Amino acid sequence: MVAAVTAAMQHFDIGNHHFPSLARTALSEALVSTGPPGIAKVVFGSGGGEAIDIALKTARHATKRRKIVSVAKAYHGHTGLAVAAGDERFSTLFLADRPDEFSHVPFNDLAAMEQAVRGKDVAAVIMETIPATYGFPLPAPGYLAGVKQLCERHGALYIADEVQTGLMRTGELWAISKHGVVPDILVTGKGISGGMYPISAVLVSEAAAGWLSEDGFAHMSTFGGAELGCVAALKTLEITCRPEVRSMVHYISGLLGAGLAQIRALYPDWFAGIRQDGLVMGLEFDHPRGAQFVMRRLYEAGVWAIFSTLDPRVLQYKPGVLMTPALCDELLDRTEQAIGLAARDARSGRGRP
Ligand SMILES: Cc1ncc(COP(=O)(O)O)c(C=O)c1O
Repeated sequence: MVAAVTAAMQHFDIGNHHFPSLARTALSEALVSTGPPGIAKVVFGSGGGEAIDIALKTARHATKRRKIVSVAKAYHGHTGLAVAAGDERFSTLFLADRPDEFSHVPFNDLAAMEQAVRGKDVAAVIMETIPATYGFPLPAPGYLAGVKQLCERHGALYIADEVQTGLMRTGELWAISKHGVVPDILVTGKGISGGMYPISAVLVSEAAAGWLSEDGFAHMSTFGGAELGCVAALKTLEITCRPEVRSMVHYISGLLGAGLAQIRALYPDWFAGIRQDGLVMGLEFDHPRGAQFVMRRLYEAGVWAIFSTLDPRVLQYKPGVLMTPALCDELLDRTEQAIGLAARDARSGRGRP
């Protein structure tokens, strides 16, 4: 990553967003060719929230409808439309909730989803494939496919927010593909930057991309699709798609899953559950703020894993896709110690997070 971005600095800067650009074209082509079937267009942003806003605007243009449905406790970022699609924890403070346009339904509840979309006035249902800030509850088998069917039946678009779950973290490039769902729009951010240069992208089907030919300047972003970011993202995608990276993700997911199960057996009353899809993991603890105790002890041991803001019982446990087996073993050792110490903390009320 460092070499790719350093070399690119001899030729590229952010570029000028008014002009066609080789770097943007190359990244668009790479995203289309590795994206879900039917993806034809790519729009760039500089962060996840902006990309979610673009996705929602795209859906509104395509359907000529205004309403957006998302999951209660969803998190899609803090920009204008994205924050309204997320939990009220972040929207009401700024009067950014819009109950007439944005509704929220419980996760894994198809009946509630049907109720929300049946009025045929919904532009899009936006779903994190596994809701991160809610602690990675796993979609029930058939749930996401059921949501997609409801979208098709009632004329709403399906937007997959893969800002956290994409880029091989589940052992597939896009987690949504494991659910047999072909999204109309897919959003990627965070990891696509390679940690080197901020960039995000919205992958759009031909049918949903109408505004781009009607008015290509309808969304503008000076830094969106910055050319150095495109180089970083191209390299990220190339590394991520290597067969050996994919198989290693499968291998270390198994290693970590088995190790965590052993740790759980040591503390069955405290370490209450493991949610796992590849390297996307939520560790549940039997205390309303259990993950905060564990986070603190892990931090002291040199491991950063954050509690889930919208369900602090659950620790977001998200090892990198390039972790070696040796580093996984070390991580498990430190995790075992931290979970043990946190159990004592939580019981004694000491070491409050
Ligand atoms: C699922 C999801 N969507 C969107 C975002 C927003 O991304 P950003 O912080 O780059 O605006 C986040 C950030 O954590 C996220 O987790």
